[in-house]
Amino acid sequence: MTATYNPGVHKFALFVVLWAILLFVAGALVTSNDAALSVTDWPKSHGTWFPSLKTLKGGDLFEFSHRLFAAGLGLLTAVLAAWLWTREKRTWLRWFALIAVLGVAVQAALGGQVVIQLLHYWLPVIHACFAQIVFAAVLSIAVFTSKWWVSDQPQLEDSGSPSIHFLATLNAAVIYLQVILGAGFRHKEIPIWPHMAGALVVLGVVIWTAVALRKRFGQSRELSRARVMLHAIFGTQFLLGFGAYWSRLTTLDAPQPMPVMVYLTVIHTVVGAILFAFSILIVLMCYRLIPRGREVRAEAARQVSPG
Ligand code: HEM
Ligand code: HEM
Repeated sequence: MTATYNPGVHKFALFVVLWAILLFVAGALVTSNDAALSVTDWPKSHGTWFPSLKTLKGGDLFEFSHRLFAAGLGLLTAVLAAWLWTREKRTWLRWFALIAVLGVAVQAALGGQVVIQLLHYWLPVIHACFAQIVFAAVLSIAVFTSKWWVSDQPQLEDSGSPSIHFLATLNAAVIYLQVILGAGFRHKEIPIWPHMAGALVVLGVVIWTAVALRKRFGQSRELSRARVMLHAIFGTQFLLGFGAYWSRLTTLDAPQPMPVMVYLTVIHTVVGAILFAFSILIVLMCYRLIPRGREVRAEAARQVSPG
């Protein structure tokens, strides 16, 4: 590993991750408060770049504050990328940061289309799901710039099958599919049952991944901690899911938006994003700590070849 640790860049990257979580809360509040079409133009809001905050009420406030947080994320990610371009030796990371900036721009354009196309063509679902990719990308930059990632780590051996890399990636993929099903229901495109069935599949894959991590890498402090956290976040999200559904059912005939429904659906959406991002973190940890089969074979061949 030729990279050097730059605490300034890493701390800034962590700040961008926190900002992205706040942006998720702001975005989820728009949906739960049914405020998506409160401001019907884009990129301006009610014909101006910055409407007077005094005139913003109810839905307008949710929609505009989400746009403001989104603009903030765009700016922060651009600064992070510029910083990495001046300081970072790893070319791939510099490009990765640039792609993340592009990702935020695409997400903003999608957000604009959600409004302009009046919530049609599955755009709210696509916007909700792409947001998770953007979040995972920002989190990955924070991981790649961390001291842990750039310092030497004792390498572990994976003797099981399928490989832990495959399992961790499957875990992240299944959680992402579950997010898509959740967004499909939340934006009224599909019924709830696929998302409920999906929760059972996620449960199975999370257990499979965690058991493999415990049996094969029980001695690794990092992976053991990650395993426990995966269980904890998943368990919380599972319970929140029932809470979110219950809140929709009990407030069906009440004047919306009812606070209990708003809180529970927003928290379930945001913890869903955190769970997906955490599953990506586990994938990255596995790639960092455990050489893949072909890397192990290449290393063995180097050692036996003369010279
Ligand atoms: C740039 C980064 C952005 C991110 C990461 C982001 C993220 C999100 C998230 C997580 C949600 C909640 C989805 C849900 O609860 O199902 C959301 C909703 C929404 N966002 Fe964004 N957003 C961004 C930019 C924008 C922009 C620039 C607009 C411009 C109008 C926008 C418009 C909306 C609208 C209208 C909704 C509500 C959709 C609905 O209720 O159907 N977003 N956003
Ligand atoms: C266990 C893994 C689960 C994950 C990762 C997950 C994730 C998500 C996410 C990310 C969303 C919002 C998508 C978006 O628009 O951005 C969502 C929505 C939803 N989920 Fe889950 N969920 C899980 C389990 C459950 C369970 C067990 C239930 C129980 C019924 C449930 C019920 C719901 C409901 C009702 C919504 C829509 C909320 C609303 O009405 O606004 N979820 N889920």
